[in-house]
Amino acid sequence: MDSAGAEPRRERVELGARSTDVRLGAGLLPHIWAAVRARFPAAARCGLAIDSHVAAHQPLPAAPADLEVLEVRLPRGEAAKTRESLSALQDAWIGLRRDEPVVVIGGGAALDVGGFAAATVRRGIPWIAVPTSVVGMADAAVGGKTAVNHAAGKNLLGAFHPPALVIADVRTLETLDPRDRVAGLAELYKCGRVSDAVLLTRLREGAPTDAEAWLDVIHRAVAVKARLVEADERDGGQRRLLNYGHTVGHALERVLGNERLRHGEAVAIGMDAAAGIAVGRGLMSDADRATQRADLRRLGLPVDVPAGVDAEALQAALGMDKKRASGAAHVFALPVGSTGARIVEDVTDAEIAAVLTAKRD
Ligand code: GLY
Repeated sequence: MDSAGAEPRRERVELGARSTDVRLGAGLLPHIWAAVRARFPAAARCGLAIDSHVAAHQPLPAAPADLEVLEVRLPRGEAAKTRESLSALQDAWIGLRRDEPVVVIGGGAALDVGGFAAATVRRGIPWIAVPTSVVGMADAAVGGKTAVNHAAGKNLLGAFHPPALVIADVRTLETLDPRDRVAGLAELYKCGRVSDAVLLTRLREGAPTDAEAWLDVIHRAVAVKARLVEADERDGGQRRLLNYGHTVGHALERVLGNERLRHGEAVAIGMDAAAGIAVGRGLMSDADRATQRADLRRLGLPVDVPAGVDAEALQAALGMDKKRASGAAHVFALPVGSTGARIVEDVTDAEIAAVLTAKRD
């Protein structure tokens, strides 16, 4: 992955005073402090939250002498999304002025907690997202959803607080666990399926193999997300299309945990389940569903619920209730035809149960 020296690609999420500028490139991380300085010239201090695994593999350049960095190391991955991590960040950053930013470096979990801490200090200080995973670049860094988990469920404490700047350096993907890199392809495929047929075609050609190919598909996914967020920042309408694969996916994650099933793997299985419901409703042909299954498998992603999953636990995680009338409604983003998707708000327990129990090749 080497295109150092090339101008970064640019994208923008236009939300007025809360807009996000996105920079994508190979070899951007070594220039991180110059980017902070350029954007916040008056800052004497800067917060830094970094995933401890990333810190061990991605040495950062020294900060300039005139910039005091208030650093907190976060536990690796989903373990960072706790109120304990949030408190540690708030304690470290409480003295920052509102023109002094924080930089958050890591995968989706680090961005979620770091962004949420930034949202709470002085009712919102600016932050710079530096995603180091495919999911972080294509999804978590863009759109301003920030959160920590609560015992009652994932992401239940959070805020909409878009970063001022996203710096996505695809070289950081080189040290990502290959399983996580592959899992992240599910979020890219989702964006293609929802509204970018060119992205879908690129992914059908196989997983990206060099920096330019990664930049190309991530940039396209970011653009898909940016347009949906601009149209519906608060997630009451079209933005919900980005939940394609996530209804069943989140339930599987809750039942199996992140070690057994990565987020992207759960989303891939969830996309096939949603496609099954779409086929049952005549929104999509069985052949289009088979194409999607083949595409996902070619990328190295699972499409079937893993053997041994407790069916009752999965149904409970989905909010299904066998005592309730089968007309109980669930909201799903369902694929339509060979590309595109729509929000459907009346999916029944019976439809979900039918796709989860059906056997496929
Ligand atoms: N991850 C889906 C969204 O940001 O809306």
